[in-house]
Amino acid sequence: MDSSAYTEIILELYRNPPNYGGLAGHNLKATGGNPSCGDMVSFEAKIEDGKISDVRFTATGCAISKAGSAMLTEMVKGKTVEDALKLEGKDLFENVGQVIHTRTKCALLGLVVFKRGLEKFEENDQEKTIVEGIKI
Ligand code: FES
Repeated sequence: MDSSAYTEIILELYRNPPNYGGLAGHNLKATGGNPSCGDMVSFEAKIEDGKISDVRFTATGCAISKAGSAMLTEMVKGKTVEDALKLEGKDLFENVGQVIHTRTKCALLGLVVFKRGLEKFEENDQEKTIVEGIKI
């Protein structure tokens, strides 16, 4: 796939992000941002028996951070917390391509915030967890 195809994927995810909005009945909420630009992302997830059964997000940010967060929700839905915690930037890059290597911090905003939330959730013995003010 050439870079214009990847650009198109990112723009499409930005314009019509899957899993966008709040999630009633969530037991994990993780919110954070990039202080250098002020962009923010917030995830709400429902985790049952160690598995992420649903996750949604809201974001105010650049196209790449929003697209990366949208893609992340697609990647983690149905995964165990353990497997989601193993995700790295390269897993995300595989899906959205080289185009985002120049904007790594933007692309990783969602991944960093969501994983920090999952870590807290685990520390809380999988009790309802709200984490705010995560910074990348
Ligand atoms: Fe702020 Fe991309 S410019 S996260």
